[in-house]
Amino acid sequence: MNSIYHHIRVMPLTGVLGAEIEGADLTMPLPDPVFEEIEQAFTDHSVLVFRDQDMSIEDQKRFTRRFGEFGFEPYVDTMKEHPEVIEVLKEASESGMLNFGGNWHSDWSFQEAPPRATILHAKEIPPFGGDTCFASMYLAYDTLSDGMKAMLEGLNVMHSARRPYGVGNKLFGKFNRAMKIHNTEEAHAELAHPAVRTVPESGRKALFVNPVYSIRFENMSERESRPLLEFLHAHATRIELTCRVRWAPGTLTMWDNRCVQHNAMNDYDGYRRLLHRTTVRGERPWLEGRAPGGSGEREPALAQSAG
Ligand code: SIN
Repeated sequence: MNSIYHHIRVMPLTGVLGAEIEGADLTMPLPDPVFEEIEQAFTDHSVLVFRDQDMSIEDQKRFTRRFGEFGFEPYVDTMKEHPEVIEVLKEASESGMLNFGGNWHSDWSFQEAPPRATILHAKEIPPFGGDTCFASMYLAYDTLSDGMKAMLEGLNVMHSARRPYGVGNKLFGKFNRAMKIHNTEEAHAELAHPAVRTVPESGRKALFVNPVYSIRFENMSERESRPLLEFLHAHATRIELTCRVRWAPGTLTMWDNRCVQHNAMNDYDGYRRLLHRTTVRGERPWLEGRAPGGSGEREPALAQSAG
């Protein structure tokens, strides 16, 4: 076991996804052989957890840049001095309120090139609760029937930021919250992505729908799309497809948004939780063997036919 790794130790969290990594000091520039093994472990396990990393923001930014360009962070204020970094923060005083990321989703899936990876570094963690759950979209795809796979491979899904970030939908923004969220008209735009995508490094297919940003299938109304989307959301987040990360200050977790959904637990009322988040820019989702799909244009007639 672990024979392909010579510089790091890779300890799977479950049989389906996630691994804890030992032997990498992320406070220092990583030697190439160590970084190459981390990349391999990321391809193999989709979620990597590094413990006891006493990192500065600059360290986190350097580690993020090893994987590619920074992603673009919309709708949420970033740190003043660090426009690439979001403070994921819920204050002790925000009891009974929604948390950021507290539903199954893939980060910013409504973007044309959604982030490949998200990197989250824990600063302050409640004494209990606040775990993050992850679900494998490789397994979600693999465990569908051949008929369902074939049908989905011909479909595009329209993604939009409008549920959390649209106007008139200020579930998060109407209170004075520690995190500043902006609800805008622009969040109502829709963009098509294939329902199944290929992840280039692994060559595997992953289901690419999520309950926060996937609005409907392309060329179908929301009402028509709902039964199948609801089936897929329930199927994709079954407990046997998941792992769960318990945080401690200094824990850094990174995940691959192309093949993982995540959900931040909101069970720590009365305690502060603070993490620093960066993203790595991804590619436009594509499915091997199929021409790039989706006009990327909004279809007003269908967009209004929500049922
Ligand atoms: C997120 O969705 O990026 C936040 C995850 C978390 O706070 O655990």
